[in-house]
Amino acid sequence: MATIELERVEKKFGESYAVKPMNLTITDGEFVVLLGPSGCGKTTTLRMISGLETVTTGNISLNGRDVTWAHPSERDIAFVFQFFALYPHMSVRDNIAFPLQAQGESGDVIKQRVSEVAKMLRIEHLLRSRPGSLSGGDQQRVALARALVRRPAAFLMDEPLGALDAEFREAMRAEIKRLHIDQHATTVYVTHDQIEAMAMGDRIVVMSAAVIQQVGTPAEVYHNPSNLFVARFIGSPGMNLVGGVYNDGAVMLPGGNRYLAPPDWVRTLNNTVGREGKVILGFRPEAARVHEQGAIAAEVYADDMHGGYSMLHLAVDKDTIVHARASRELHLPIGAPMRFDIDPTMARFFDPNTEAALKREVVRRE
Ligand SMILES: Nc1ncnc2c1ncn2[C@@H]1O[C@H](COP(=O)(O)OP(=O)(O)OP(=O)(O)O)[C@@H](O)[C@H]1O
Ligand SMILES: [Mg+2]
Repeated sequence: MATIELERVEKKFGESYAVKPMNLTITDGEFVVLLGPSGCGKTTTLRMISGLETVTTGNISLNGRDVTWAHPSERDIAFVFQFFALYPHMSVRDNIAFPLQAQGESGDVIKQRVSEVAKMLRIEHLLRSRPGSLSGGDQQRVALARALVRRPAAFLMDEPLGALDAEFREAMRAEIKRLHIDQHATTVYVTHDQIEAMAMGDRIVVMSAAVIQQVGTPAEVYHNPSNLFVARFIGSPGMNLVGGVYNDGAVMLPGGNRYLAPPDWVRTLNNTVGREGKVILGFRPEAARVHEQGAIAAEVYADDMHGGYSMLHLAVDKDTIVHARASRELHLPIGAPMRFDIDPTMARFFDPNTEAALKREVVRRE
C-alpha cells in the first residue's frame, strides 16, 4: 500500500519542459488516471514516479519517504507498459515467476504466488504455453500477472491497453478495475482516451502542455471543468461553448438569441464579467432541451443516430454549431427551424480572456 506525493516536480529536456512544476498527492488505494493529449507529459510523469527518469527539480515521496533519488528497485512500484515485453522463449509460468526468481524467493513461495495470480486473472490454463501462441488480450493478462505477482505497493500503467482492439480493451478495462477493487493497490494509469479515464478513475488528472489543468473525480471534471481545455477535452463531443455578451442578467448569443442567465449565476456574472460583457456559455449536449418554447432558436444542421439516442447538430447561426442529445424518436428534418432551452443547473460560464471557468458564488440564505 502506498501514498505517492509529488512536490513541485518538474522535468526539462534541454530548454523545453516535459512537465512544468507539478504538485499531486495520490492517496493509498486510489486509482488515479493521468489523461491528456499526446506529448503533454504523462509518460514522463509516470517515469519520474517509477525512478526510470530523474526529476529536474522537486521531490517525490512514497509513504512519506523521500525517494526522489532512489533507484527504481528501491521504490516497490511495478510498471506495466503498453508493449508487454514477455520473454518469448519462456513459458507463461516462467514469465510470471521471473520477478520473484530475480528477488530470490523460494520455490514454494514462487509456485504458490504464480498459481494465485494466474487464478485471479483466469490464465491457469495457459501456464504451459509460450507467449507467442496467445492472443493480444491473453498476453496482456500475462504481463499484468507478472506485475502483480511481486505484490508491489503501487502500480504504474502506461496505456496498457493501447495495443488491443476495442473488444479486448473493454474486457481488460473491466478486469483492471476489478483487480483494483479486490487488491486496493495504489494505481496511476495513463491514457489519452477520456472515455477510458472516466470509466476507470477514482480521480482524473487532466494534463495539457506539461501542466495539470484539473484534478477531480470523473463527475467533477465532466460537470465542472476548470477551463475551456478541460471542457473541450472531456466528453464526446465536448462541452458546447458559445461566445456571448452579458448585460443585466441576460447573455446575447449569436443569431440574435437572448438567453436569461440562471438566477444563481447573476451575482457572479455581475461581479466578474468585464465591462465589454464578453463571456462564454458552456453546456453539455444532454443539458439542451429541445422544445417549441425554448429560449434559443436554431436550425437542424445534422442528426447522428447513436442507437439509444440521437445527437443533433444545431446551427445557432452560421458560425455556431452546438450539439444536443435528443431521444431516438425525435426526428427533425435537416434545415428545420427549432428551439431549445438549457437546463439551468447545467449552464456554465467561462472567461474568454483567461479561459478559466467562472466560479458561482453561493448566496447564503440567512
Ligand atoms: N527522452 C526525451 N528527450 C527529449 N524530449 C523528450 C524525452 N521524453 C519525452 N520528451 C518530450 O517531452 C514531452 C512529453 O513527453 P511524454 O512522453 O511525457 O508525453 P505523453 O503525454 O506520454 O505523450 P503520448 O500520449 O504521446 O505518449 C514531449 O514533448 C516529448 O517529445
Ligand atoms: Mg506517453
